[in-house]
Amino acid sequence: MIAVAIDGPAGAGKSTIAKTIAKELAYIYVDTGALYRATALNALQNDIAPSEEEKITAMLKNTCIELRFIDGVQRVFLNGKDVSESIRTSEVSMTASKIAALPIVRSFLLDLQRDIAKKNNVLMDGRDIGTVVLPNAQVKIFLTASAECRAKRRYHDYLEAGNTSESYETILQDILQRDYQDSHRAVAPLKQADDAIMVDTSDDTLKESVEKIIAIIQGKI
Ligand code: CDP
Repeated sequence: MIAVAIDGPAGAGKSTIAKTIAKELAYIYVDTGALYRATALNALQNDIAPSEEEKITAMLKNTCIELRFIDGVQRVFLNGKDVSESIRTSEVSMTASKIAALPIVRSFLLDLQRDIAKKNNVLMDGRDIGTVVLPNAQVKIFLTASAECRAKRRYHDYLEAGNTSESYETILQDILQRDYQDSHRAVAPLKQADDAIMVDTSDDTLKESVEKIIAIIQGKI
């Protein structure tokens, strides 16, 4: 099986780029952030704060999170219910980043991610794929862009989805806070793997980023 790990901060373009490339190479695109988001949604629905570790540990014992691929498109299920859309709010983003710092949450989601890569050729995106989840991935990319550029993209994503309640400034502040939280946690922090290739998408169009990464993948495989 072939694994391409794509790590990087929020809004660097991981999901858009990875989805496009996965289609072209006929790999499965796995968005691991959806797993942390589904866990966060579960906590929010049960009124549990990310700081209440014992309650989260108990909650996980009764939690079933699954990824299903329908016509190659990932859907995430929380206790049998498709939550693929409801995990995309800014409240869930921030809670996911806080909850993702808990070792119990990370180990709960680890085997699930590895199992998918055992059975499929994958393009997997996240924060710790090249460093922790799939350290033997044949290709590792660290995708980044300036915080302003990432906030601008996220702002346009929200507008396209009809969400006009988030200002650019709030989105930028949320992104900076998540960058800090994700790169400063003790377990599996966001960082470039030693053998990852860095791609900065700040000045590139989607097409240019896709071409760059396909060239890297083809050079390695
Ligand atoms: O889509 P976006 O880049 O905004 O975030 P995401 O990939 O959906 O991830 C949401 C949060 O989950 C991140 O801020 C991380 O804290 C956490 N996460 C993680 O810790 N490890 C991963 N492999 C993926 C996500």
